[in-house]
Amino acid sequence: MKKSFSVEYNQFNHWNELTKDDQSLVESAIDAMSKAYAPYSKFSVGAVAILSNGELIKGSNQENIAYPSGLCAERVALFYAGANFPNESIDTLCIVAKGDLVPEETILSPCGSCRQVMVESEKRQNKSYRIILVSQNGATVIFNSAVELLPLAFGV
Ligand code: THU
Repeated sequence: MKKSFSVEYNQFNHWNELTKDDQSLVESAIDAMSKAYAPYSKFSVGAVAILSNGELIKGSNQENIAYPSGLCAERVALFYAGANFPNESIDTLCIVAKGDLVPEETILSPCGSCRQVMVESEKRQNKSYRIILVSQNGATVIFNSAVELLPLAFGV
């Protein structure tokens, strides 16, 4: 039996087309990105999660000379949220990035490990959350759930 997945998302030419609230989330993610520690890849990533109590949780990628010891911005933010606000749910996660690692027009897309963590954080809170991905040229895509980004995630 042949089966398939389809992925739904909304696309915008630039994040300035988003609602005012979403634009301010992007601005917060840009601020988070400015605090990245990325001396090895020179690719800075910022992630901000807005929680149901209005709290903004900011994360940025934190690298280490022992490369695999570093952590992506998304997981820094999600694990901080889980550790400090275990009873609050995430409403939206917004991610931005900057650097020469990928061309400006490449759609920013979280790595597989972060997607796995995103899926489980949705499961943990029993509710999906929006994911706003802002590329370096400003182009933006919005997903309504992490599951759209990782169908058949491990163990969930
Ligand atoms: N990075 C993130 O922070 N998030 C992702 O989803 C992909 C990659 C970081 C890890 C590393 O510090 C740098 O970007 C280059 O891979």
